[in-house]
Amino acid sequence: MSVLKGKHIILGITGGIAAYKSAMLARLLVKAGAEVQPIMTPSAKEFITPLTLSTLTGKPVISEFFTANTGEWHSHVDLGLWADAMVIAPATASTIGKMANGVADNMLVTTYLSAKAPVFVAPAMDLDMMAHPSTVRNIALLRSYGNHIIEPACGELASHLVGKGRMEEPERIVARLEEFFSSSQSLAGLNMVITAGPTYEKLDPVRFIGNYSSGKMGYALAEEAARRGANVTIVSGPVSVSAKNPAINVVKVESAVEMLDATERAYGAADVIIFAAAVADYRPAEMAGQKIKRDGHEPPTLQLVKNPDIAATLGAKKRAGQFAVGFALETDNEMDNAADKLQRKNLDMIVLNSLRDSGAGFGTDTNKITIIDRNGSRTVFDLKHKSEVAADILDHISSLYHK
Ligand code: PMT
Repeated sequence: MSVLKGKHIILGITGGIAAYKSAMLARLLVKAGAEVQPIMTPSAKEFITPLTLSTLTGKPVISEFFTANTGEWHSHVDLGLWADAMVIAPATASTIGKMANGVADNMLVTTYLSAKAPVFVAPAMDLDMMAHPSTVRNIALLRSYGNHIIEPACGELASHLVGKGRMEEPERIVARLEEFFSSSQSLAGLNMVITAGPTYEKLDPVRFIGNYSSGKMGYALAEEAARRGANVTIVSGPVSVSAKNPAINVVKVESAVEMLDATERAYGAADVIIFAAAVADYRPAEMAGQKIKRDGHEPPTLQLVKNPDIAATLGAKKRAGQFAVGFALETDNEMDNAADKLQRKNLDMIVLNSLRDSGAGFGTDTNKITIIDRNGSRTVFDLKHKSEVAADILDHISSLYHK
């Protein structure tokens, strides 16, 4: 039986040629047992008739704010609360732009803005529209709101040009929804501690030694683990990202020593610990009490001392039933260095990301990883958004970890 049975799904359809595929998507969702409410933008009706959608779903299509002849008001707020998920397929560049910027001039975007449920967006458009900086920025904005983007496929487009822009096939959209619902609560009851972001090692009251970590990878892991039902504590260095899920316990630290201290305190109760932080390996031997002056002074010589290795310290104390995951950020000799860290720090699994892969590592919204297990097996993943990378890492942990 499909996990979609009994789920309330709003199917948003916008005005693009791929709207013909929405009929199949509606049919597959209904077949899986979902209750499907279609909402069409006015231009979607130029591509596929409301009659087709209402026949397939057994529900009248909603397109306007009210029914003209009866004056019946369609409450976007009620619809937004009713839904377990909202799927917008196809999503045109225009609708994506309106969603990203809150232009609520039709029933679909208004409902989107009211929806509390997870939103899945399947873009479909010409390849140049897809690659335009405006579309790229709007899709990035939707991701930053926590929406799930179902990437379009490459192939021949309506323009007969070949490239990225074909709406993903309905079967795969349904599979994505099924994966999403079946993984929710799959980590219920698990205590997870995640380190994230950089550490800052103070030189004087206004300067520090740090690195480029933004915290995006660690926070993406925290969000996905919390969505799957884990009790998550994130021990975070100074970052500008924040946790969206209020259930995530955020412990803010600045230096490596503070991070070790906070992580050690959370460690005892942890079932799974993920070391995603970029911890400074060295700190100044002394912090100047006042701002180090330039004029009339020779450049100072920095004396550094080693910071604690948090993963190695806690790896050495790992008890039966605990599962430790490290990251390896490499620039050369990647596989060997990562495998060595896995052993040295007594980890159960290590996630390698290399700065030689474009779009991977620090600061980016994407990452490209290889997972190495304790038995030496390697799984290579494509470049993906960090939210999807987080899902891959948690799937891998789930397949290896047995409490
Ligand atoms: O934050 P983002 O901008 O999203 O970037 C993500 C990331 C690149 C920071 C992340 O994906 C990542 O690779 N994190 C680990 C970075 C790192 O310090 O790698 P490392 O190879 O130097 O360290 C190996 C492991 O030991 C890591 O799990 C690290 O957290 C841990 N470590 C390292 C040094 C130290 N003193 N204490 C540690 O715990």
